[in-house]
Amino acid sequence: MLSPADSLAPDWLVVPDDANSLAQAVWPAAADRDAGGALVLGGMPVAELVRQYGTPLLVLDEDEVRERARAFHDAFARATAEHGTSSRVYYAGKAFLSTAVARWVTEEGLNVDVCTCGELEVALAAGVDPARIGFHGNNKSVSEIERAVSVGIGTIIVDSAVEIERVAVAAARIGTVQRVLVRVNSGVHAETHDFLATAHEDQKFGMPFGDAEIAVARIRELPALEFVGLHCHIGSQIFGVAGFRESASRVLELHEKLLAGGEIPLLNLGGGFGIAYTSVDDPTPIGQLAAEIVGAVAAGCAERGIPLPILAFEPGRAIVGTAGVTVYEVGTTKAVTLDSGASRLYVSVDGGMSDNARPALYGAQFSARIASRTSDVPSALVRVVGKHCESGDIVVDHEYLPGDVAPGDLLAVPATGAYCMSLASNYNHVPRPAVVAVTRGSSRVIVRGESLDDLLARDTGISITEGA
Ligand code: LLP
Repeated sequence: MLSPADSLAPDWLVVPDDANSLAQAVWPAAADRDAGGALVLGGMPVAELVRQYGTPLLVLDEDEVRERARAFHDAFARATAEHGTSSRVYYAGKAFLSTAVARWVTEEGLNVDVCTCGELEVALAAGVDPARIGFHGNNKSVSEIERAVSVGIGTIIVDSAVEIERVAVAAARIGTVQRVLVRVNSGVHAETHDFLATAHEDQKFGMPFGDAEIAVARIRELPALEFVGLHCHIGSQIFGVAGFRESASRVLELHEKLLAGGEIPLLNLGGGFGIAYTSVDDPTPIGQLAAEIVGAVAAGCAERGIPLPILAFEPGRAIVGTAGVTVYEVGTTKAVTLDSGASRLYVSVDGGMSDNARPALYGAQFSARIASRTSDVPSALVRVVGKHCESGDIVVDHEYLPGDVAPGDLLAVPATGAYCMSLASNYNHVPRPAVVAVTRGSSRVIVRGESLDDLLARDTGISITEGA
């Protein structure tokens, strides 16, 4: 038996009183265990889901997504109404987009932010009104822009001078006036992983303020374009309001300057609202975040004596992250003991970095629980790893699980709804898992899992040779 006091555990990880417990902030609100101790998601026993759909499996709790979408919509609507303006909340589809999810979030009052034509087509296939879609990206192609303008997309967030001309040409050719925002780089470095921070100076997104002024002047002289406001996004997985407040204050300076050239109805402050991945993460409730961020922008506008614009936000992770739970089957376990005597149990599951690249990409931390049963056996320090041919193929870096975790157990990793499936790959020719939506005791596949036939379908080498 491994000691829970194992020295390989990081300082932040505490030995749980109960290694079967489901930390409230990390799991969907409806997650529970049945009388036998097995995990139930959205009213569906996980073992039953696995019988029907296999493992690995991403289970997405529809009610949790809807509830979070509504919470963001309502929190910003309330906060902005208190200051005499209104809000637009865009779901950032890059977190995870499928037609079902696009439908759920728009039914709950959100708009949709897309950053490629692929995401745009999924939103359109879901029946999302194009006027409710915003189009991002630092390198939108001419054909992507033409498609977006021709379907009547609500806004295009331009990211460079080159793009302004492209959008103007497309809009003029199609005979419409395209509403555009200009993405600026506010220079605020959000306290998050470097690759998740998007507004420090030396990176590809947004325009420096000086260039943005020239860009807005150019947009205002082009009859096929309508300038509706500035956009900034400081990064992702951000806790607290300090970064948003600082960024908004800097952007308001430019916003005020630009008012000399005409009205500016909107200000988009982007997304980045953090979620809990482990029990040590403590995100600020959305009602409080919305009140504080909107309050800060309203105070900034009042100080400058300028009208408070409509405020837009783009949460992705905070809408779907906590709604997703990935279920794996444990294949092997192996205790590894170092020369120091410290040890941990490696628990290998039947997926890995192909369905969750976040630990490998960002050193992201997750948590895990045995899903098929509970156990009173004292906890052991484990590292959950995947089946890929890489030592960095880690799913959960540090966790305590009941020490009798064994092959055949189902293992659930919560908070995997955002940026797991959307970043999934076929590394090592592992098929990507199905996504199953659960709600109140029912389940349905919303994205089917890949088969080996799918993997071979794009491999044309041998058939070409044989056919020749
Ligand atoms: N708006 C813009 C312009 C963005 O670039 C992003 C995220 C969002 C909104 C949504 O951010 P969220 O609310 O989801 O944090 N793959 C990384 C995250 C990359 C985020 C990219 N942009 C991860 O797994 O953490």
